Parts: sequence; structure tokens; C-alpha cells
Amino acid sequence: MKIFLVVIFFVVIFSQSCKNQTTDPSSPNTLSLDQKVDSVLALMTLDEKIGQMTQVDRSFLEKEEDIKNYFLGSLLSGGGSSPSNNSPAGWADMYDRYQSFALQTRLKIPLLYGIDAVHGHNNVKGAVIFPHNIGMGATNNPSLVEEAARITAAEVYGTGIRWTFSPCIAVPRDERWGRTYEGFGEIPEITEAMSEAMVKGYQGNKLDLPGSILACAKHFVGDGGTEGGKDQGDTKINEATLRSIHMKGYISAIKARVKSIMASYNSWNGSKIHGNKYLLTEVLKNELGFKGFLVSDWEAIDQLPGDYKSDIETSINAGIDMVMVPRKYKEFLANLKSLVNDNKVPISRINDAVKRILKVKFELGLFEKPYTDRTFTPLIGSSSHREVARDCVRQSLVLLKNENNSLPISKSLKRIHVAGKNANNLGYQCGGWTISWQGGSGDITTGTTILQAIKNTVSLATNVTYSIDGLGAEGADFGIVVIGETPYAEGNGDRSDLNISQEDLLAIVKMKGAGIPVLTILISGRPMILGQALSISDALISAWLPGTEGQGVADVIFGDYNPTGRLTHSWPRTMGQIPINYGDSNYDPLFPYGFGLSY
Ligand code: GLC
Repeated sequence: MKIFLVVIFFVVIFSQSCKNQTTDPSSPNTLSLDQKVDSVLALMTLDEKIGQMTQVDRSFLEKEEDIKNYFLGSLLSGGGSSPSNNSPAGWADMYDRYQSFALQTRLKIPLLYGIDAVHGHNNVKGAVIFPHNIGMGATNNPSLVEEAARITAAEVYGTGIRWTFSPCIAVPRDERWGRTYEGFGEIPEITEAMSEAMVKGYQGNKLDLPGSILACAKHFVGDGGTEGGKDQGDTKINEATLRSIHMKGYISAIKARVKSIMASYNSWNGSKIHGNKYLLTEVLKNELGFKGFLVSDWEAIDQLPGDYKSDIETSINAGIDMVMVPRKYKEFLANLKSLVNDNKVPISRINDAVKRILKVKFELGLFEKPYTDRTFTPLIGSSSHREVARDCVRQSLVLLKNENNSLPISKSLKRIHVAGKNANNLGYQCGGWTISWQGGSGDITTGTTILQAIKNTVSLATNVTYSIDGLGAEGADFGIVVIGETPYAEGNGDRSDLNISQEDLLAIVKMKGAGIPVLTILISGRPMILGQALSISDALISAWLPGTEGQGVADVIFGDYNPTGRLTHSWPRTMGQIPINYGDSNYDPLFPYGFGLSY
């Protein structure tokens, strides 16, 4: 009877505090955050608690009512998991519809929707696409990175979504890794600075401010240190190195009050991180004091040894609070419930996980404002946002060679010939995680290609011609060849050979064959083995994966912006030098960490 009265008390208080939320400390309705969380937790059934710990990809919902039927606490859009109407309004309408199902549940606990907005709101057509993190690191400008994150947050907020699985604060130590471009650089210092900046940009001064979204530092821990750069591989290093290289970014993120962290697929000396209680609970939560919630990666718990039920038991007991299932949610729910009933997963672990999740939902203001704030929707892709992204592009470019001061190029030359497969391809310059998971080719969204930017910049009297293979350059005054990688994401980008392709090299050779100065621009998610491409080019710029605002490249090559970008990766001479990192003994890269020329 006593318990019942306590519960009633909280129900009354809780419903009051939701209705007339007051900040007046003298008001009897002011509840502390913990009191609000405890009052909701006290009302929850086991099914409702387990539902909060379950994250499903929208594309795997058997029916949308399952959000209500199974008390799902979170949905996500994996890369490319978009509504058929892939417009800002289409996303906001979809989000609000999903949310409406969550609010039909008994306790009306709002849904928390997550997405990989990792270089802008990159699933959404028309959103501004920023340079990937390797380029943002090369700006060496944390305040610019914070501003870019704030803009991304505003664009995500405009679709209703309140959680991005970003920043990736991997410290990529081996460029053969397909996710090298998702990190800021090869040493912890740049990662610490940018991790703090990005978290502050996304989360703002308060999580419930208009335009603030939940950040997610990922992937804890050691994702960038696997042997041979193998994606989801084994990070074979001692604990001192794991802490000194791969853990410092998390300390910065926690200092910046990050409220979600994603666990990593990789193993540490043979032990899968998703089952490692020492790292996930004793170190991350207890020692480092992480108070937010820990989300698994996509189907990552399935990789643990044993059957699915034992995977759930191991990962939840290790410290995972929310599982990105994201397909077989009914099986997950049933297994976890059975594990709790058999006391294989203590109810105290469930309560801790649910409290962490509820706390963040309260901090986000989701209980008070669960639906899209449509005043932000028109901001998506705005020209003011594009101007900031263009500045990020300018500041990310690294000038590696400029013989005889070939650059900056005059805007009033008679003729400029452009070549290379990456010159006029928006999809290529955006890279992976753009509109689709792996990225694509051509006009995948709104933006400016490098060729278009060149044409926008030169005088009316200047003739700009283009051939993908470099032929036809005779008679031009200057040649620009844009080469590099085609899009990839995650393990699909793992490479054993990072040499410039023959096709790309031939384009430079043919351009140079016309006897004119040649600038080579490299579009890539990492340093590549340049070889002859460097020696036959008069000038060479690493543009990384600049995103939609190709105009920023033109600003640099025509001298409207004096390049300031600096390498955050040591540039290897040959494949044989990889891995090569700042601080190595007998360190002899082609270009050292921190290198970059200016005019
Ligand atoms: C992926 C990635 C992770 C991403 C998640 C959701 O496998 O490892 O970075 O946030 O799944 O798309």
C-alpha cells in the first residue's frame, strides 16, 4: 500500500511538472532531473524499460505501430535509410509520425531518433555537406569546427531529429583503414581539440535549447588502431598506448558534457569491446565519469562469441545501455526480458541503463517538445550555411607543392584546361556517408563541383575547357587535373594499395604533355602514394573530401584565400612506410605531420 501511495505521489508530481514546467525553485512543482527520472522509472513495467533500451532502424519496422506496441525508445536511420520523399519536409513529417506512435504509449515517453549526420545532415537531399573530418582537422581551427557542428545541428533539428552519431573521434594510425577520413588526424592532440569543439557545437550550452542536438562520441575505443588498419579488426596494443592515443578524445568529449557514446566494433587484444566490462563500465563510466548512455554499434553485439541470447547478456552486463539492434527487435526484446526474469541480467543494470536514457531525454526537452520545430526546417541548405561550409573547404586545403609559384592562378588567362574524373563529380567530392551509406557519383544532391567553381571564378574572357582524360590541353595557358578516390564507407574502403591510379596518372601526363603548368588536386579520404603524380605536377593540393561547396577550392587556387591547411597525417612515400605516424623513430615521410605551404 505504501509503495502504491509513493507511486501515486510521483504520478501527480510528474504530470504537474510536465504540464506547467517551472524553473522557479520556490515552486512546489519543481522537480530535480533525478526526481523526474525516478518518478517515471517507478511507473515503468519491465517491457517498458526494455523497450527504452531498444533501437530499431526505421526500415526494419514491421509496422509503425510497433513503436507503440513494443514501447520502442529509439529509432535510427542508418546510412541511406531515408523516407521516399527525401526532402527536409519529408523527413520532418516522417519523424513526427513516428513520434506520434511513441506518445500513444501509456507513459508517453518520447522517442529519441538517431542519424549519422557526420559531415552535415548528409542523408538529406539539399542539406549542406561539409568536408569530412580529416579535412576539418586540417583547418586546425576548433572554433570553425564548432560553428560547422552548430549549423549541422540546426539542419538536423529542422527535420525533428535530435541525435547525431557524431563526432567520430577515431585516431586513425594506419591509412589503409577505410574510415581514416572519419577521424581528425593521427595523434590525440588534434582529436582532443576537435572532439570538444564538435560536441559543444552540436549540444550548445544546453541540450534543450532550440537547435541543440545530442552528440555521440564514437567509437569507444581504439577503432583507429587495428592491426593493418582492418575495419572492425583487432587493436593489439597495451593499455598505456590505448589510453594515451585512443582514449584522450573521450576525456575531452566528456569534459564537453557529451551525453552519448557509441561502443566500437573492434577488439582489444582479442577481446570484443562490446563485451568488455572493464573498458565500458569500470573505465568509461566509473573512472572517466561518463554520465550519459552507451549505445552499441549496428548489430555489433551479434559479433560476440556465443548465441544471440548470450550476446545480449554479455553486452548489457558489460555496460551497453541501448542496443542498436537494429533489425530483429522482437527477438531482442524477448531474450532480454527472459534474461532479466532469470536474473542473468540484474534489474539494477536495467534500471541504470533506463535512467541514463531517460535523463538525456529530459535534458533534451523531448517531453515538453517532442515534435519538429518547423521554424528550423527552412534553414536546411541555406546560403548562409553554405558560406560557412565554403570557408571550411578553404581552410581545409593543404598546399603540398607550388613550384615556381605556379599558384595562385590568374583569373584572366585566355584558356584553362581541366581534366580528371573528380573534377566535375559532386558525389566524388562528398565521399561516403552522403545521401547513401557508401556515397555515390554525379549530382547526388545540391552543390558546386570544382569545375563549376572554376568557371564561376574566372573572367568572362577566360575559356574553361574540360576533358576527363587530359587530352586537348594543347594551346591552353594552364592545366588543372582533379584526381583521387571514389566514394566508400567503413570496411568497403579498406585498401592494401593506396597508389594513385593509372587512369589518374595518365590524365596528369597528358595534361603536362601540352607543355603548360599543371596543378593537380587530390580528392581523397587519406594520404595516397603520389609517386610520379607529384614530380610531374607543378603544384599539388590535397583537398580531402570537401563536400558540396566546391567554390572553396576555387577561392584557394585563384588566390582569394591564401592556403592555411596543415596535414594531420604523415604523408607516406610508399606503401612500405605505412603505418607511419608523428613520433615514430626513423620518421621519414614524404610530407611530415603539420606540413602545408602558403602563397
Ligand atoms: C555503422 C557505423 C557507425 C554508425 C552506425 C549507424 O556501422 O559503424 O559509425 O553510426 O552503423 O549507422
